[in-house]
Amino acid sequence: MKIHSIAYYLLLLGLASAPVHAQQPVSGYDFQTPEMQEMQDDDFANPGMYTVEAGEALFATAGGNGKSCVSCHGEGGKQLDVKRIAAYPVYSEAQKKPVTLRGQILSCRNERMDGPQLQYSSEEALQLVAFVRRLALGETVNVDVSGPMAPYYEAGKKLFHTRWGQVDIACHQCHDYHAGQTFRGQTLTQGQSNGFPVYRYTDGHVVGIQGRITECLTNLRAEPYELGSEEYINLEIYMSARSNGLKIETPGIRY
Ligand code: HEC
Ligand code: HEC
Repeated sequence: MKIHSIAYYLLLLGLASAPVHAQQPVSGYDFQTPEMQEMQDDDFANPGMYTVEAGEALFATAGGNGKSCVSCHGEGGKQLDVKRIAAYPVYSEAQKKPVTLRGQILSCRNERMDGPQLQYSSEEALQLVAFVRRLALGETVNVDVSGPMAPYYEAGKKLFHTRWGQVDIACHQCHDYHAGQTFRGQTLTQGQSNGFPVYRYTDGHVVGIQGRITECLTNLRAEPYELGSEEYINLEIYMSARSNGLKIETPGIRY
């Protein structure tokens, strides 16, 4: 039998109906079946690892100026600081705005390697993010939303509490108040971000955090935003900070 966190059992007992911020965050992992958890834990069985491996190959591939990610960050990214990876999104003093991990990787690739230019929504960008996040496997999410990050966090929080689409429900109504309950044959989780990019078992694709938000918005019959949009970056900031204290699981497996 799997050992879950105390917060998970409290949720099931209905003792923790306060919003997530007043509770402990619980990883989506804790709500999966033992079979899915085993699959996630076994690198050879975890289908998300193909995306990580594709990212590893891209990490070593030279761009327009002959440099690869390896040229600056070492073989397999060993010079990257995993604690820093776990702290994304961060505020960039140079750009005077927050950058997500994907945004940082894209600016390295598009500006420091001379391309070929990658779009925010490209499969290659997703693969690179999966590889880089995987380096921080087991690190504690630790996003600082004080100082210049505060207004972006607040904007993301507001979006999380906005009612969407024809269904007219806000993210927090499902993910803060109903985690542990069954919804359309699935167990609702807190909608935490620590497993991303995740492999979705239902139809076998890997998706990043912003892409997953699109999937929820589409289910709510709302118009999704573009990946890399201001709205999604703000939501990612809010959701990342909401996962502070959880361990990075990339690539998580979720139903
Ligand atoms: C020419 C050198 C160079 C290349 C090539 C390069 N980077 Fe970077 N990278 C940097 C520098 C310098 C930083 C420090 C942050 C900044 O100034 O943007 C950085 C920051 C990062 C960070 C954030 C680390 C932190 O501590 O905040 C990640 C992740 C990263 N790069 C990934 C990549 C990936 C993936 C590639 C290949 C697609 C790549 N980089 C290519 C120079 C490079
Ligand atoms: C009607 C209920 C409902 C609403 C409203 C909703 N979602 Fe979800 N969401 C789900 C279900 C069901 C899943 C799949 C099971 C799970 O992980 O909770 C899910 C999954 C997620 C996940 C994946 C968690 C993981 O560990 O893989 C994230 C992130 C997420 N939602 C974010 C959002 C955001 C952001 C919004 C608002 C834009 C939102 N959701 C609105 C029902 C909802």
